[in-house]
Amino acid sequence: MAALYVGLMSGTSLDGADAALIDFSDRFPRILAFATVPFPVALRDRILTLSEPGDDSMELSGIVSIELADLYARAVEGVIAGGGVDRQSIVAIGCHGQTVRHRPDLGFTIQLNDPARVAELTGIDVVADFRRRDMAAGGQGAPLVPAFHEAVFRNDKTSRAVVNIGGISNVTWLPASRKTVGFDCGPGNVLLDGWARRHIGTHYDEDGAWAARGNTDTALLDRLLEEPFLKSPPPKSTGRELFRLEWLERRLSPSMAPADVQSTLTDFTAHAIMGAIERFCGDTQEIYLAGGGARNSALVSRIKALAKGRPVEPTDVLGVPTSHVESMAFAWLAMKCVRKEPVDLTAATGAKGPRILGAVYPA
Ligand SMILES: Nc1ncnc2c1ncn2[C@@H]1O[C@H](COP(=O)(O)OP(=O)(O)O)[C@@H](O)[C@H]1O
Ligand SMILES: [Mg+2]
Repeated sequence: MAALYVGLMSGTSLDGADAALIDFSDRFPRILAFATVPFPVALRDRILTLSEPGDDSMELSGIVSIELADLYARAVEGVIAGGGVDRQSIVAIGCHGQTVRHRPDLGFTIQLNDPARVAELTGIDVVADFRRRDMAAGGQGAPLVPAFHEAVFRNDKTSRAVVNIGGISNVTWLPASRKTVGFDCGPGNVLLDGWARRHIGTHYDEDGAWAARGNTDTALLDRLLEEPFLKSPPPKSTGRELFRLEWLERRLSPSMAPADVQSTLTDFTAHAIMGAIERFCGDTQEIYLAGGGARNSALVSRIKALAKGRPVEPTDVLGVPTSHVESMAFAWLAMKCVRKEPVDLTAATGAKGPRILGAVYPA
């Protein structure tokens, strides 16, 4: 029986990483090799900085991870009760975690999560950490959903674009006879939500009603549309690091009415989406919307106005309600991981090849 394992450990003394190659086939483990790679001074100093105790973001990330896990477990209990299924019959939970930093430029992405705790609380295997392997394989780590869109929404006869309007928007192009392309195309709801929260105190601009009362400022719209991210070719991904209110403020003229800004942001979001389809999704014949932004009627009507007569429909017409697409995608990704089936995101994230995504935390 194969019984060779490698153990890796770097301890508190920060001298380096030790590796031991061990054969467990006999009663007593046998050391076949041992190596230490010392820490470079700069790395050691950085670790020391992170190890400083204090009321800082390290501490906060630990606490938030636990709070998230508890919340995730409650959501799982909700669907177990709602579905009337036996807990034992659930193969695995796909648990994406909460992105707090996405830096494909530096090769990392951080989703806060405590999948071990979710496994402990639910008694069900948890698959987590989906993005990291993609990045390790040279990908952007996002978007991951195009593979799922391809599995459920592809049609051999028509060329479709599926737009998920979450905080950030991502487009999946499903050409009838070519490879699927997917990428983040820019803001979805992040700017709309941030501006609404600041000026009308709500989490979001319900149905775009506030935006509908404003008038779009074309000069501002043009300035927003100059953002280089919009024009840069896929693969690409983005997040709150770029599209934040400070980004907007730098482009605002002082005396603008907040409702006019909201209207302009709604147009900007629509243009960012449709511009991406025009630029990068060649022969798109049908456009399908998903995510919370698909429920913003002002946004949807502005997207339709830019669609040049092509049908723009919610994914409901393809059998998946707009608000369920992403969670369903992570159930699908969990299934792929459990089955050890590689997911091909080469034309979405730019990964070098298909990879098995995620890590399993057994119950
Ligand atoms: N009725 C609505 N009117 C306007 N916006 C809505 C409505 N319903 C949902 N949203 C938007 O959708 C967002 C949530 O979308 P979601 O797809 O869950 O995003 P994420 O994937 O980033 O969590 C809300 O923050 C809000 O901006
Ligand atoms: Mg959401």
